[in-house]
Amino acid sequence: MSKSRQAIHRLDYTPPAFLIDRVDLNFELDETATRVTSRLVVQRNPKVASADAPLTIDGEDLTLESVKLDGALLTPAQFELTPSSLTLPGIEQDAIIEIVTRLNPAANTQLMGLYLSNGNFFTQCEAEGFRRITYYLDRPDVMTRFTTTIIADKTRFPVLLSNGNRVGEGVLDRNRHWVKWVDPFRKPAYLFALVAGKLVSQTGQHTTSGGKTVHIEVYVEPGDLDKCEHALAAAQKAMRWDEERFGLVYDLDTYMIVATSDFNMGAMENKGLNIFNTKYVLAKPDTATDADFDGIDSVVAHEYFHNWTGNRVTCRDWFQLSLKEGLTVYRDQEFSSDIGSRAVARIQNVRTLRELQFAEDAGPQAHPVRPDSYLEINNFYTMTVYEKGAEVVRMIATLLGRDGFRKGMELYFRRHDGQAVTCDDFVAAMADANNADLEQFKRWYSQAGIPQLDCSSDYNEAARTFTLTVRQSCPPTPGQPEKLPFHIPLALGLVDRRGHDLPLQLDGETMPGGTTRVLELREAEQSFTFVNVPCPPVPSLLRDFSAPVRLDYPWTQDDLIFLVACDSDAFCRWEAANTCASRLLKELYLAAARNEKIVLPAGFIDSLRCLLTEPELDPALVALMLELPGERTLLEEIDSVDPGLLQQVCQSVKQQLARELRAELLIRYAQLNDGEPYRYDSIEVAQRSLKNVCLSYLAELDEPMVGEMLANQYARADNMTDRLAALKALVNRDGGEAQLADFAARWQDDALVMDKWFTLQATSRRPGALSRVEKLMDHPAFSLRNPNKVRALISAFCQQNLAHFHAADGYGYAFAADRIIEIDKSNPQIAARLASCFNRWPRLEPKRQAMIRAELERISTTENLSNGTFEIVSKALQA
Ligand code: BES
Ligand code: ZN
Repeated sequence: MSKSRQAIHRLDYTPPAFLIDRVDLNFELDETATRVTSRLVVQRNPKVASADAPLTIDGEDLTLESVKLDGALLTPAQFELTPSSLTLPGIEQDAIIEIVTRLNPAANTQLMGLYLSNGNFFTQCEAEGFRRITYYLDRPDVMTRFTTTIIADKTRFPVLLSNGNRVGEGVLDRNRHWVKWVDPFRKPAYLFALVAGKLVSQTGQHTTSGGKTVHIEVYVEPGDLDKCEHALAAAQKAMRWDEERFGLVYDLDTYMIVATSDFNMGAMENKGLNIFNTKYVLAKPDTATDADFDGIDSVVAHEYFHNWTGNRVTCRDWFQLSLKEGLTVYRDQEFSSDIGSRAVARIQNVRTLRELQFAEDAGPQAHPVRPDSYLEINNFYTMTVYEKGAEVVRMIATLLGRDGFRKGMELYFRRHDGQAVTCDDFVAAMADANNADLEQFKRWYSQAGIPQLDCSSDYNEAARTFTLTVRQSCPPTPGQPEKLPFHIPLALGLVDRRGHDLPLQLDGETMPGGTTRVLELREAEQSFTFVNVPCPPVPSLLRDFSAPVRLDYPWTQDDLIFLVACDSDAFCRWEAANTCASRLLKELYLAAARNEKIVLPAGFIDSLRCLLTEPELDPALVALMLELPGERTLLEEIDSVDPGLLQQVCQSVKQQLARELRAELLIRYAQLNDGEPYRYDSIEVAQRSLKNVCLSYLAELDEPMVGEMLANQYARADNMTDRLAALKALVNRDGGEAQLADFAARWQDDALVMDKWFTLQATSRRPGALSRVEKLMDHPAFSLRNPNKVRALISAFCQQNLAHFHAADGYGYAFAADRIIEIDKSNPQIAARLASCFNRWPRLEPKRQAMIRAELERISTTENLSNGTFEIVSKALQA
């Protein structure tokens, strides 16, 4: 093994021996030789008894030019330099350290630290990128006041940005200029940012509840200025919302967003200077889909919300990541629910959670929301930390109520503003503000795995009682064979035979209280008896998905169809449809595996028919209910699965439904395809979503008329949502070569639209997908160095095209392994993410398992493999 593979453990945390009071940074920007001068005012941490500990600071891929201690230049014998650190002995109480480093941004292909994108400079410092800029105590519990001076060529880099307020600027010799920034708020280094380049901005304002004006600036490359309006409006909406919902007001005079097309992630919350992937900034109806617009709203809100939940109060160490990410995802989800449809947002979030987080939590990478150890922190920006973390925060809100949750937030900020804290501190603030006991609840932070609720019920006609019994369990996960019971909020209602919610009165209560109740589970098995229940009800369980669990209850198919029609909880209505479809698909899969044929039950078809023809229903909800469960979710629920067969079964069900519902689909499509000009508002978005679901069903019919419909929608669309929906169907049906060529010709200069073009082909179910993907890697618009391109083509193929990725010949696996090894050399973070495409191998049939194991072995024994990729692959091998 060529690298050291040292795991970091949560329980090894010790506070820093030194603190940094101030840092003054000076950047002389140059593409291949940037000079960074850093002046640190350090002092011993008064809370740590370590009078003689030396000062060791982090650094990576840097050339050290000089070190001064209290003004005196040190000779190499006076400090110790390793590839990852600089150690200065002999500091007594405090010191001023001046360090000059040189670095090469043009050679930075990892996109961590200071790098170039289309000739402009950007930084990315979370989690541990600042150490690639200068030597520093690069840990989130060291919070410092930053001053930054940037010097660069005036013509090529007219815009020079950093955190905080611009306090000075001027010109220098050799056509250079400088700008100085002061950030008045203490922050950890991971929130540092610098941007320099030829950028233009769209600006707007927000007036705070206190009457202060905040200037909002969205910076993009010159050709993109016509695509900033939505992001700017999103920032304004987010500012208003956070004031109204949580009383949280922005704290600087300017809020800047800068877009770059080379970015490992979605976006980053650097103080006052958020840096975004162009995907989450640039949009106009011609080039962005409705989903893209929604994505911009939620990512802009998310990064903006971090200003309080992440920046003002930050993480003590990276094990506490969910402290900021889970909470901020919860906040952005709530924002999206409030500006759009709450039910639709909830269903979409649950779908993502089930498809991605559940798979993670059941596989080799399963880890608690607050992990216990890691090899590479970048691997822990996971669905569990983010999405399950958000569910954990949501459960606290469910248990405490909306006002109780807000009180908890207020106490959290009163106690911890300006500090670096832990998940325990957050829970303590919530508990203390409400006099609540959340001790058992904290197991959600420490125990991994998806809890399983097995429910049964008993109706006693004579006593008019309904008893619900719930048994909870949680499967073993790596390192955690046994689990203790969780504290689980289980929201439920009881629906009578006329479809009305019954008032709920628990045994022992004198009066009924509401029609939805939150039961609190704390034990392995519990029973709840409701009294005055006049007839046997159908239970509506886990309303609004009140906990991230799997729930089983012996509903009959008729019960489910009844709930689809009657449940007052929109989530449960969708869930009933989803449970019905998913049971059916699993049965059909097993039948197909035995070479048997099953016809679709008429009741199921009729319930979908009702949804399609009922004009009163919200079209967005109908669209969601018509969409069949995804193959990735089904894969989790079938043992020894053949993904190719699963895809065939799903497709054939869709085809049968299309035949049965042909008339209704055509009518609904025609009604919704009204030729009105495009508008992005919730009514129009909902209608387009249903229209395009109808279209995707109709596209399963092998009729020339359908081909014409698709070609028409493609040709006539005045927006990307409709155009892409038609093209997707065409590509799956008959190749759509003419339209694919037309699309590329039209959008060859728009990188984000070309990403869609790559993804369409990578996810096509027609034969030959892999060889088309391989050919597309030579397309002039493709680059293995650009994360968006890798995601659009390669990750899309490996993660979303199950039938082809899992092709029986194993070529899909070899292709993925080759790309992982190749990308690991330039950008290990992206390679490690791609490597998780193999995680679910134990669910597959034995032949595929063996082929994947061989590829995992091949990757793991590659020389100089990064720690990040090694960590993912070696865990997968232990599964
Ligand atoms: N802090 C993260 C960005 C980040 C992630 C930096 C990983 C370093 C490593 C940011 O707030 C974030 O969470 N971004 C998400 C999008 C968000 C809407 C969930 C992302 O980039 O995917
Ligand atoms: Zn975040």
